[in-house]
Amino acid sequence: MGANKKMKKNNIIILVLFVAFCLFFYSGIKAEDYPPTITFEKPVKAVPFNHKGHIEMMGQDCESCHEKFFQYQIGAAADAGDFNHKSFKEGKYCGGCHDGGNAFAMDKECTKCHIGVKGYNKLKSGGKKEEAHH
Ligand code: HEC
Ligand code: HEC
Ligand code: HEC
Repeated sequence: MGANKKMKKNNIIILVLFVAFCLFFYSGIKAEDYPPTITFEKPVKAVPFNHKGHIEMMGQDCESCHEKFFQYQIGAAADAGDFNHKSFKEGKYCGGCHDGGNAFAMDKECTKCHIGVKGYNKLKSGGKKEEAHH
């Protein structure tokens, strides 16, 4: 009887630890905040990426991009040396989705992504600088 009781107690401790373990990792992923917009500047200036918009569209499914197409690190793609349209065509990075299937293809509508240097300056100044020249 005594041994049985001790085993039950151990089971409870294990259960509590297990739940705590799960909560830790669950909240770790959930609480991770992400930058709402990321602007790529290499190799060409510039391509803004609407992180928030994509996350809303994908329904919080971080794994649809991470780490299949992108790492959890700004600059990783730009530093990899193959962040270009040749790779996109092979289904890497943005090209994993933007192939004319669920998302528009990358061989047209260039300006949907490429905002150029002017657009970049406007974005960085919050639109104020450009406005002042008008
Ligand atoms: C549609 C694709 C996509 C989805 C979905 C997505 N991300 Fe990202 N995420 C990116 C890209 C692109 C980068 C930049 C990677 C790079 O520069 O190499 C990035 C970078 C990040 C970073 C790095 C930030 C930094 O300061 O270095 C974090 C953190 C992140 N994402 C969190 C999330 C979380 C949390 C989710 C889900 C709620 C999510 N992402 C969903 C594409 C996505
Ligand atoms: C996991 C799939 C996925 C990846 C990876 C992805 N996208 Fe998208 N993206 C979508 C979907 C789905 C839409 C909405 C359908 C459409 O517009 O064709 C979209 C829409 C867009 C739009 C139009 C709406 C908006 O947010 O302005 C742009 C621009 C865009 N993506 C740029 C990018 C860029 C740049 C990358 C790479 C850094 C990228 N996407 C990577 C799935 C993805
Ligand atoms: C879905 C978004 C998207 C579309 C559409 C798109 N691009 Fe890109 N492009 C990118 C991203 C992301 C990069 C890499 C980051 C950077 O250079 O800022 C890039 C890089 C480039 C580069 C430099 C690297 C390379 O491949 O030589 C050129 C040139 C380029 N794009 C031209 C174009 C042209 C021309 C079009 C239209 C036919 C186009 N892009 C359409 C997202 C896009």
